[in-house]
Amino acid sequence: MSHNAGPYAIEVEHLTVSYGPSPALLDVTVRIEPGLLAGVIGPNGGGKSTFIKAVLGFVKPDLGRVRILGQPVEKTKGLVAYVPQRGAVDWDFPITVEQVAMMGRYGRIPWWKDPGRQDKDLVHQALAMVRMEDFRHRQIGQLSGGQQQRVFMARALAQGAEVLLLDEPFAGVDAATERAILDVLSRARAAGKTLVVVHHDLATAAEYFDRLILIKQRCYGYGPPEAVLQEELLSEVYEGKLRLFGAPAGGGA
Ligand SMILES: Nc1ncnc2c1ncn2[C@@H]1O[C@H](COP(=O)(O)OP(=O)(O)OP(=O)(O)O)[C@@H](O)[C@H]1O
Ligand SMILES: [Mg+2]
Repeated sequence: MSHNAGPYAIEVEHLTVSYGPSPALLDVTVRIEPGLLAGVIGPNGGGKSTFIKAVLGFVKPDLGRVRILGQPVEKTKGLVAYVPQRGAVDWDFPITVEQVAMMGRYGRIPWWKDPGRQDKDLVHQALAMVRMEDFRHRQIGQLSGGQQQRVFMARALAQGAEVLLLDEPFAGVDAATERAILDVLSRARAAGKTLVVVHHDLATAAEYFDRLILIKQRCYGYGPPEAVLQEELLSEVYEGKLRLFGAPAGGGA
């Protein structure tokens, strides 16, 4: 049973990951089709970040396996990219927007060469896609949180990543910035990328994503939002800690 590209962007099978005695993820199986914007939801400590880390190969599973575009992660060579959160980066480092995006090319440029015409074109295309061209000479420390996210999206796109994983890109940004980041995610999807995004706001989950993955140690559901956002399922997973979403029945306040 061999496949070339494989039908799935991400294939996670029977994945179990432990840091200590009880597993953070237990027997998780999810297959994500290419070209989708998928949201990972679930309560705090449910294993959302662990899921992302396991897909990237940052944490080793006890059991199970991960395939990216039909290949083991070690063999994907830049096809998968992690877009870090703000807190993970030294923002005082004196580097411009353009230089950060060019970092996406370094794995592809031989060490004895400078970036060539093609590298520069790819960087400019990536900055255009995230609408950050006008900021290309700006130091990254002088950007808003949402702009920084977009620069890291550009780095991933310049790298040629087909699969992008983001852990809570909307955390701590205002509504306008959230819209701007969502717009970039949609544009990347329109370019055929597969995006997996940890998100904690159930109120917007159905609007933002094509698929939802509901995780609390186990995978409680994967599918279109309306199939996953079932009241019974959610109350089981969130154990009553759920703030109800949508308008209350009968049209209250
Ligand atoms: N490096 C680690 N060492 C030990 N335990 C960890 C580590 N990282 C996560 N855990 C534990 O694994 C479980 C899943 O954590 P994870 O960070 O994946 O959850 P999460 O769904 O991303 O939570 P949050 O919504 O708070 O970000 C939690 O019980 C957490 O305490
Ligand atoms: Mg997390």
